[in-house]
Amino acid sequence: PVLVVDFGAQYAQLIARRVREAAVYSEIVPSSMSAKDMLAKSPAAVILSGGPSSVYAENAPHLDSALFDSDVPIFGICYGFQVMATALGGHVAQTGRREYGATELTVTDPGSALLQGLPSTLGVWMSHGDSVSEAPEGFAVTARTADTPIAAFENIGRRMAGVQYHPEVLHSEQGQEVLRRFLHQVAGIKPDWTAGEILTEQVELIRAKVGTDKVICGLSGGVDSAVAAALVHRAVGDQLTCVFVDHGLLRRGEREQVEKDYVAATGIKLVTIDAQERFLNALAGVTDPETKRKIIGREFIRVFEQAAIGVSAEEGGVKYLVQGTLYPDVVESGGGTGTATIKSHHNVGGLPDDLTFSLVEPLRTLFKDEVRLLGYELGLPKAIVGRHPFPGPGLGIRIIGEVTFDRLEVLRAADAIVREEMTAAGVDAQIWQCPVVLLADVRSVGVQGDGRTYGHPIVLRPVSSEDAMTADWSRLPYDLLARISGRITGEVPEVNRVVLDVTSKPPGTIEWE
Ligand code: XMP
Repeated sequence: PVLVVDFGAQYAQLIARRVREAAVYSEIVPSSMSAKDMLAKSPAAVILSGGPSSVYAENAPHLDSALFDSDVPIFGICYGFQVMATALGGHVAQTGRREYGATELTVTDPGSALLQGLPSTLGVWMSHGDSVSEAPEGFAVTARTADTPIAAFENIGRRMAGVQYHPEVLHSEQGQEVLRRFLHQVAGIKPDWTAGEILTEQVELIRAKVGTDKVICGLSGGVDSAVAAALVHRAVGDQLTCVFVDHGLLRRGEREQVEKDYVAATGIKLVTIDAQERFLNALAGVTDPETKRKIIGREFIRVFEQAAIGVSAEEGGVKYLVQGTLYPDVVESGGGTGTATIKSHHNVGGLPDDLTFSLVEPLRTLFKDEVRLLGYELGLPKAIVGRHPFPGPGLGIRIIGEVTFDRLEVLRAADAIVREEMTAAGVDAQIWQCPVVLLADVRSVGVQGDGRTYGHPIVLRPVSSEDAMTADWSRLPYDLLARISGRITGEVPEVNRVVLDVTSKPPGTIEWE
């Protein structure tokens, strides 16, 4: 793998994804890992990520400098660039001049392996206080900015290079090309990480692990569990049974989509459990968002457990449970860098500690984009693979106030209109998702038909995002918004107002609860 060394900022995952986009497998490792342990992974290259602080800060993360004595190709980014400069005998100065945001980079060495042939000035994304004031011996300085004389350097003979800016962010022009050149040309790595390869490899791994035992999988209707199940089915066929819990908090048509389209595309054995009443009873009178999430999570596990016991008895013992855990979940739960729990995320299929299954997690090394590619490779339809993310607790956290059947029906009607109009307008691919939220405890006066009404508002929350960690509100066309608004207030009598959420994340989360 290519190891991406995490210095504790948020950039490591993005870098790891960009490496994968260059068709090279990557793994994130903490900066505290010893050089020996890193080298034990036989890395094809090491990328040092950006970090939070100055190399001079009191608890600045260090790196075992023995890494630089090996002949592994190394690329440093931002903080990693400075760590590299220092470790190789260059110098970093506290200039007191901060560069932050879009900055113009000027290529000063037309012979640079990383930058040659690119435009001689590039808009790049900077975020640093200190600067490299002296490049290490043997390194050519290849670019500068107005405030930073040494903004990139390279030593092609040693297969080492670095940049002060962030090539991994979309705002950096040619950023992906620079990373690609480092990986393919400087480090000489063969780009062979493709969906086809992943599929072949995972099928073998699953077969080796599962053998002839029985497997169960909870389907949520989401992309991850759908792809995970299809993959396991490809590997072990009818040893797999899927369970779909209808908790009554689904959107219109979702259950049918799983029961018909998904089964038709995969040939998977499916058991649906109708648990609508149970969930509604458990949620009666509850308005606190975290309490709702906990109740839904708890009930889900109980229902799933019972179903699993049923399937298990019928199938003569089920040994494995499939989970659609993704690489970011693995990094975040193992990272241990004290990230605050903002919301208790309940992943459908989340299981209690005492459940006696062994886990099969075939997506554990993958990012969401890769899961989608794999889904297409497995022949799943676009309606399933291209779906927008939908939270496990479903519409339960999109009704602000108590969840009741009638309120769910109002929200389902409004949500169906939004999805229909967005698809018709062809904007699905431009946005990450669009939660539709019912403010069930808020009423406002309106005039509909001939009379005064006192109805509820519906909130549209369309967002653009790359990973849901940050997001911006999507600038949907006004005429689309107007059509949605007109149809909701016309077709859903309980709603007399449609409002648009124009908050980015942060400060707002994507969901309202
Ligand atoms: P927030 O609201 O935290 O949402 O900005 C970030 C992303 O996560 C989704 N989400 C969930 N997904 N179970 C899930 O599987 C959950 O409990 C859950 N809560 C939020 C949300 O839709 C968005 O894509």
